[in-house]
Amino acid sequence: MVTIPVPEVAATPGFLVPEPFVVRRLTRETQDTFTLTVASHGGGDTSFVPGQFSMLWSYGVGEVPISISGDPAEHDCLSYTIRSVGAATQALVGRRAGETIGVRGPFGHGWPLAEARGRDVLIVAGGIGLAPLRGVIYHVLRNRRDYGRLILLYGSRSPKDLLYRKELAAWARLPDTQALVTVDYGGLNWHGRVGVVTTLFKYARLHPERTTAMVCGPEIMMRFVIRELRAGGFAREDIHLSLERNMRCGSGFCGHCQWGPWFICKDGPVFRYDRIRPLVDRHEL
Ligand SMILES: Cc1cc2nc3c(=O)[nH]c(=O)nc-3n(C[C@H](O)[C@H](O)[C@H](O)COP(=O)(O)OP(=O)(O)OC[C@H]3O[C@@H](n4cnc5c(N)ncnc54)[C@H](O)[C@@H]3O)c2cc1C
Ligand code: FES
Repeated sequence: MVTIPVPEVAATPGFLVPEPFVVRRLTRETQDTFTLTVASHGGGDTSFVPGQFSMLWSYGVGEVPISISGDPAEHDCLSYTIRSVGAATQALVGRRAGETIGVRGPFGHGWPLAEARGRDVLIVAGGIGLAPLRGVIYHVLRNRRDYGRLILLYGSRSPKDLLYRKELAAWARLPDTQALVTVDYGGLNWHGRVGVVTTLFKYARLHPERTTAMVCGPEIMMRFVIRELRAGGFAREDIHLSLERNMRCGSGFCGHCQWGPWFICKDGPVFRYDRIRPLVDRHEL
């Protein structure tokens, strides 16, 4: 019998074995979306790069990939913004303070914060896609002198689906920052912009030659955003996308998330557009 060697790191808690984390708080964002803040039982360091994700385990139910949506400057807790769509996510948002979940990770490559230094940062997000980008906003605002202007274009289905409403309002008032929001369907009490996220481009003051674009949202939305960015003069290498696939191990072992030559969990989830373009342009994202 051939024995396949398993790297020692695979057996350490947090890599292939979930580590127990205790729920500190659960904040309601919308009707079906909550932000869960957890801390390691052992009080360990929780450093991460915005754009990375964890595998969150609800005991007895299942394990799912969820992006880290908190502030990378906090090293004693992790936050996740979770839309309750099925068994595992429902179980996670049903946790109360003091209860335990399992956490593996952080996994994957995050957003190019170092590359974007000295440049403007454009964030284009759709729906829950703002969650993996919130850490970028915190980072840029905390290190204001390292970056140029911050431009956020955010679209959601309806006003009641908007995430982080108070923060959106606060960001919109900051100097050197443009935070523009639109919804697909406004309803009677909505006085803001209506239309898909690409309709916001005409209000954004953009300098493509000195801007790094970071995009996350439904795949169809990302396609249209890429088109808009390219038409507006953005180079392919200045566009970064976060992709999703079903995942199991989260760390390049099982092949579940394979996409052409890449494993989304290990080589992504954030990719530079010029590197994945042949696949993006040939197949569905
Ligand atoms: C890298 C990565 C980061 C993610 N970050 C977040 C996040 O920050 N917040 C968040 O709420 N969700 C995030 N997701 C999606 C999340 O993992 C799925 O919603 C979750 O796996 C659904 O599991 P479930 O058991 O609750 O529902 P299931 O019963 O598995 O699915 C319920 C419904 O959701 C659909 N679904 C399941 N998985 C996905 C998926 N990956 N993409 C689109 N539709 C899906 C199913 O087709 C089904 O219609 C992320 C996924 C990936 C790969
Ligand atoms: S989830 Fe196992 S290889 Fe990516």
